[in-house]
Amino acid sequence: MHLNRRKFIKKSAVASAGIGLATVIPSEVWASRVAPGDKINVALLGCRNFGNKILRDHLGFEDTNCVAMCDVDSGILNERAAAIRKDYNQSPRLYSDFRKMLEQKDIDAVIISTPDHWHCIQMVYCLQAGKDVYVEKPLANTIAECNIMVKAARRYNRVVQVGQQQRSNRAFRESIRLVGDGSLGKLRKVNIWGNFNYGLGTPFRDDEPVPEGVDYDMWLGPAPERPFNRNRFHGSWRHYWDYGGGLMSDWGVHLIDMGLWVRELTDAPEKVMTYAANNSGQQRQRETFDTMTVLYAKKDYVIQWDMTAGVETGPWGKPYGVAFICDKATVVTDRHSYQVIPEWDNSNRSHKANAKHVAGMREAHQSHVRNFLDCIKSRETPVCPPETARAAAIHVHVPNIAARVGELLLVWDDKNSRFTNSQKANELVTPVYRAPWKLPEIV
Ligand SMILES: NC(=O)c1ccc[n+]([C@@H]2O[C@H](COP(=O)([O-])OP(=O)(O)OC[C@H]3O[C@@H](n4cnc5c(N)ncnc54)[C@H](O)[C@@H]3O)[C@@H](O)[C@H]2O)c1
Repeated sequence: MHLNRRKFIKKSAVASAGIGLATVIPSEVWASRVAPGDKINVALLGCRNFGNKILRDHLGFEDTNCVAMCDVDSGILNERAAAIRKDYNQSPRLYSDFRKMLEQKDIDAVIISTPDHWHCIQMVYCLQAGKDVYVEKPLANTIAECNIMVKAARRYNRVVQVGQQQRSNRAFRESIRLVGDGSLGKLRKVNIWGNFNYGLGTPFRDDEPVPEGVDYDMWLGPAPERPFNRNRFHGSWRHYWDYGGGLMSDWGVHLIDMGLWVRELTDAPEKVMTYAANNSGQQRQRETFDTMTVLYAKKDYVIQWDMTAGVETGPWGKPYGVAFICDKATVVTDRHSYQVIPEWDNSNRSHKANAKHVAGMREAHQSHVRNFLDCIKSRETPVCPPETARAAAIHVHVPNIAARVGELLLVWDDKNSRFTNSQKANELVTPVYRAPWKLPEIV
């Protein structure tokens, strides 16, 4: 069934009247809203930093319009919308409540770029309203929410791309192909590191009145109520467990994803060993850890994550990167380059593989967005669907949970969604939503 936009809108006006979590839209009505020649109407949810960038990446393609923008900070919303009007000649309708925005019938896809604690509930609302979704990484802020999102994407049969754009990055694609084809010998270990100053958090600040123009209750949403503090707000929310997971989840989810992709793993981890500490002497306000080393035991290789917030040097002269260690060579990759460093074979007096250094690659946000737009039209699965993102997200949530409850080893039973060796850890699997928000139930 292929409906053009006009027929679709007519039909959907009936189907989606009285939108809300209870509204269920028959999947055949929604199967293909955008004909190949149509423009795709996108809406942005969360406009400040990355949302603004990803919206612009969408608008860089001619087959895209921006028809709506939503933010709970009216200052940010008005400023970003004015710039989009000026730079792209677009006239989005503006909203402070995403539920109102989802009543706008001509929206085909929603970009969700709010803090991590919002991703699950907002994505479920979007899917139930029949929208395709580009949701930022990590998929969600807890394991239970990740599971709900995978189920919801299947249940409502929508196209969902998760913003792990390294899956569209040439340096990573090529190096993973090289390691995966076996020509460099057996993969033994994937060493991954991410060292950034911002991971330390921000200098201490007092609580203060909510700034004018901010709907703080709607910023907190399902997170616990607490007085307003700028350190827990725009940008730096990522250092507080209620909203994010620190450097471990911010960069870890991108980079650890590469250690899974190389073996095409989409499973959650089983055994995870975590060392976490606050070893920086700097007095900063945050809850997340500044120093973490994590080992993920896989069937026949090991993934190691190493993170030191507050320094920006790292192995191979890079602040972040991935080293795929194989019998015949190590491949060191970041978003702009990769290098094959061969082992020396003493008996043959030669290298075991050919050296190679490819540099000058670009970031992959636009290719990742293009893949999403193409999939909206073709209804194919994008390069980073929720199942893939769920695996990467659980790989960062488990060590964060271990760090929070002080366990060195956690054993995760994914089938039953529980840790087998720590009741304290099990208490952090599912978030407690603040009323009136409810953890979505997908039947
Ligand atoms: N893919 C990447 O490389 C990448 C890079 C940076 C950030 N991100 C992700 O993007 C997301 C946003 O991060 P950021 O750095 O832009 O954060 P930010 O704090 O700068 O922006 C978040 C915006 O969401 C708005 N917001 C919060 N609650 C809202 C609600 N209920 N309705 C509407 N708007 C709401 C805030 O007011 C703010 O404008 C995060 O999930 C983050 O992990 C991804």
